[in-house]
Amino acid sequence: MVIFHKASELQKNLSSSATSIGLVPTMGGLHIGHISLIQKAIKDNMRVIVSIYVNPTQFNQSEDLENYPMNIEKDLKILMPFKNNLILYIPNHQEIYPTGISSKKYDFGSLSVHMEGKVRPGHFDGVATIVEALFKKIKPDKAYFGEKDFQQLQIVRALNKMLNLGIEIIGCTTIRTSDGLALSSRNSLLSSKQIDNAKVVYEALKYINTKVSDWSIKEMKYYFKSKVEAHEDFKLEYFYVVNQCDLVPVSFLDPKKEYRVFIAVFAGKTRLIDNIKLFRI
Ligand code: PAJ
Repeated sequence: MVIFHKASELQKNLSSSATSIGLVPTMGGLHIGHISLIQKAIKDNMRVIVSIYVNPTQFNQSEDLENYPMNIEKDLKILMPFKNNLILYIPNHQEIYPTGISSKKYDFGSLSVHMEGKVRPGHFDGVATIVEALFKKIKPDKAYFGEKDFQQLQIVRALNKMLNLGIEIIGCTTIRTSDGLALSSRNSLLSSKQIDNAKVVYEALKYINTKVSDWSIKEMKYYFKSKVEAHEDFKLEYFYVVNQCDLVPVSFLDPKKEYRVFIAVFAGKTRLIDNIKLFRI
């Protein structure tokens, strides 16, 4: 596996004839969701760079950062089958934050106000800071992000426009277990009982999607909350139906617009987030 810790050295290695460079930014704790992005990038590009960096500025609770599942050995094993097709970039804090660990401030308008932006203040400034640094250091043609973090995906799209970098941002579908649980690095913090119970999240979201024409948004939320909280250590943090373009929560559906449902649920101390597109009403 070719591994670089400094972008300056990585750049020297990228031949100028590489017509297409794909970037897959990650924080490690790799799973099949990440692999799906990597496989797509390998299909689309001559060179693929996977970055692994647990970015401190996007964590607003030190406990969350301390508990974040890091295991570089395990990640390298998972990437072994792709070793001839990718370059790993594993920077340290000094490389990313040479003048000190702090995030820049951005204005993403309504995109960063609700959902994760509301419950994790400063989170998207941290995400945008690291993504801007990676985009500028790696200069990819295409960059791959998961719809699992749909708000992040839209913010990265806005950042790319704001900075006029001309990178093609590719959104990739959410990969789930056979039970429907969206894969996440944080799932490794769940007990086997919590994993089993967590299938209720996607089951309830799918059911709501069959009721779009019959239920109000209030009824959807009531249903979701009661299903999820039927499990003793599960607690709903938020449930919103939002306009897909501006990510602003709505109370009524307009048949001409596209919507997504966004949820965050605590399973014990672990946060699960998910979202699905609402069928047309
Ligand atoms: P991380 O949580 O490691 O996720 C890396 C990428 O994998 C993100 O684009 C995320 O949306 C995608 N991903 C995670 N789970 C997925 C799933 N089940 N299906 C499809 N894609 C999935 O997101 C981050 O890291 C960070 O915020 C980062 C962008 C790297 C900036 O630090």
